[in-house]
Amino acid sequence: MPRNDTTSPRPAWFFREYEPVGVDLGSPAAVADYDRNQGTDPDADDALLDRLGVGTGTRLVDLACGTGSLVVQAARRGAEAHGVDVSPEMLAFAQARAEQAGAGAHWHRAGFLDYVHRSAPADVVTTKAALHQLPDFWKQQALLNAARMLRPGGTFYLWDVIFSFEPADATEQLQRWIDTAGRPEGQGFTRADFEAHVREEFSTYAWILEGMVERAGFDIVSRRSGTPTHGEFLCRRR
Ligand SMILES: C[S@@+](CC[C@H](N)C(=O)[O-])C[C@H]1O[C@@H](n2cnc3c(N)ncnc32)[C@H](O)[C@@H]1O
Repeated sequence: MPRNDTTSPRPAWFFREYEPVGVDLGSPAAVADYDRNQGTDPDADDALLDRLGVGTGTRLVDLACGTGSLVVQAARRGAEAHGVDVSPEMLAFAQARAEQAGAGAHWHRAGFLDYVHRSAPADVVTTKAALHQLPDFWKQQALLNAARMLRPGGTFYLWDVIFSFEPADATEQLQRWIDTAGRPEGQGFTRADFEAHVREEFSTYAWILEGMVERAGFDIVSRRSGTPTHGEFLCRRR
């Protein structure tokens, strides 16, 4: 799938979002492993879509949609569902999932920073397990872009590896997460995957994200830190 981001040239200092960090997703086999390890669960996607009020005619954009389960479930309930991702391999898997489900969704090879939403403004923008791909400066730019594609009053939902522990407790908290979350090879994400996440990716604190989402033009409706290392923000565009 060709890139359908903006055609305007980017300055040399622009972030290279088509060279993502983290778990290898560069082959169909790696993507299938990812989907299994992530524990894709259409029921959980449906529960989230219920919470967000997604139904017939809702315009939803899922940024960094990965293997596309949320987008497919949204399309199945009659939403105009758009999946955006930089990875052609992830998008190919997502498209196959949509075809298998008989769900008509729109797929875009584009990134958080350069996706241009060309249809009518979205009612709901979601992003799960992905904003940590960007360093904080670029997270803020991505959040501004998410606000740009939403109608006023529209919903923005963010879930990710987000730290809510006290900074002074970081070493102990991260070690506990890695020690408990890692699974044996072939049974889920491994200890090495979580170690690499902390070392190489850009997860940040909830209190930093809170300022960013507010500065991007959102009011925070609710926030939840399910564990000290994971959290969500549910927001409305002002
Ligand atoms: C850990 S996966 C999460 C996928 C999906 N949201 C989920 O919940 O399973 C991260 C995804 O982000 C995508 N990605 C990485 N950097 C991106 C960027 N700058 N813009 C859009 N997608 C990006 C990757 O290709 C990958 O599909």
